[in-house]
Amino acid sequence: MTHEDLLDLRRPLQMGTAFAPAVCPDQLGDAGFLHDHRLRYAYLAGAMANGIGSTDIVVAMARGGMLGFFGAAGLALDRVEQAIDRVQTAVPQLPYGFNLIHSPHEPKLEAALVELYLRRGVHLVEASAFLDLTLPVIRYRTAGIHLANGRIVTPNRIIGKVSRVEVATRFFSPPPERYLTELMRQGHLTSEQVELARRIPVAQDLTAEADSGGHTDNRPFITLLPTLLALRDRLQQQYRYETPLRVGAAGGIATPASVAAAFQMGAAYVLTGSINQACRESGSSDAVREMLAAAEQADVIMAPAADMFEMGVNVQVLKRGTMFALRARKLYELYRTYPSLEAIPTAERSQLEKTLFRATFDEIWEQTQAFWKSRDPAQLERAAQEPKHRMSLVFRWYLGLSSRWANAGDPTRKVDYQVWCGPAMGAFNEWTRGSYLEDWRNRRVVTVARNLLYGACVLTRQAILRLQGVEVDARVGPLDESRLATVFG
Ligand SMILES: Cc1cc2nc3c(=O)[nH]c(=O)nc-3n(C[C@H](O)[C@H](O)[C@H](O)COP(=O)(O)O)c2cc1C
Repeated sequence: MTHEDLLDLRRPLQMGTAFAPAVCPDQLGDAGFLHDHRLRYAYLAGAMANGIGSTDIVVAMARGGMLGFFGAAGLALDRVEQAIDRVQTAVPQLPYGFNLIHSPHEPKLEAALVELYLRRGVHLVEASAFLDLTLPVIRYRTAGIHLANGRIVTPNRIIGKVSRVEVATRFFSPPPERYLTELMRQGHLTSEQVELARRIPVAQDLTAEADSGGHTDNRPFITLLPTLLALRDRLQQQYRYETPLRVGAAGGIATPASVAAAFQMGAAYVLTGSINQACRESGSSDAVREMLAAAEQADVIMAPAADMFEMGVNVQVLKRGTMFALRARKLYELYRTYPSLEAIPTAERSQLEKTLFRATFDEIWEQTQAFWKSRDPAQLERAAQEPKHRMSLVFRWYLGLSSRWANAGDPTRKVDYQVWCGPAMGAFNEWTRGSYLEDWRNRRVVTVARNLLYGACVLTRQAILRLQGVEVDARVGPLDESRLATVFG
């Protein structure tokens, strides 16, 4: 048996008593998941904020028989609605999803986003960053719930993204009573609908997110996934839902080996992020794509997050080629040390104004005020009372803009680019080294996805043969698009 035989996925292999069946990409993952979401392949592109998870990604994934989520976080509602228009026009019949990100500081925004999705018929969301459930999430999930032929039908689905058991438990449980009561009081649900809602999980599907780009708890994939699979089984046994609960895997997925491992461990689907930002269709800039293509395994670092700066929450970002992490950490250290901007020693202040802000604190405060006046004036009222909050808003000017400079590819701010990225990127670069995918110009989300799925099938066949004492070389580099087309049809 040769390497070439192994690569021909559709042909079963026989050597003496050893046997390997055909293993094709559409067999990977959970068949019920594929059916319910009308997908051909159990491969998802996770949302990426500020439209980095672009409509181009969502449309390309849909056309490729996969699923992409639009990165609505950080965007104004009218921008999100434009994205809905674009996706619904481009792929009216195909599956797609939008991000519903928890905004603890802006609850009105979360509620408005849900109303927008309901109004515009967005029937699938990726719900992320939740620590606890909220009324808008339950409103979305239960809207329009009804019975058809004796089965419960929910027009809206949630794929939750979690890294903690407590949060996963809430998503895999029926909606909390207090929210159902409130929705009935507000006239959104009838008592019959409440009755039905008690029999469904808030999310049928949960993505177990291990160490990833952006917000992350840095959990190891190898321990998180089995933990959530066990939780899935426990809660399915407890609630006996009509449709069984499912768990997918994310965080570090970037090579055929990691895809094969995730499916082997029992993931219903895989979800990628960092490697999609590095693709042509992402809403990032060519300058960032070039930096990402040079990243190695250890070129990522945790740095303070703009949205939860005061709470000390971190995000994982690219370290190589940018000073963002270092500078953002410095700002957090100053925030912890001093009660106000005025208390920062003069030398320190001048240094910051010269290198990082490139303007005086007063000038930055002017811009900050203009921003919050339209977005959330309560922030300014608080800043007037609390000098430390004013300092936080000024520092967050830098944390907020640094990701926008990166997205726009602003050449004057390259050293300040904030690029969310996980160790997946280095693994992907390593795997593609020496192939046509080493060049970022050739990276497209579906090409990348197909290669990972194809490679995972080859490795799965190799593993089956190895168990029977037959060793076959399974090294598989990226295939070009025409060869992929013959595998994927
Ligand atoms: C640039 C970037 C932005 C992201 N923004 C979001 C976001 O707004 N909402 C969200 O749910 N996940 C976000 N994520 C997480 C991804 O959707 C995905 O879960 C994660 O990247 C998977 O791990 P990986 O980076 O190791 O592939 C982001 C990831 C990256 C790399």
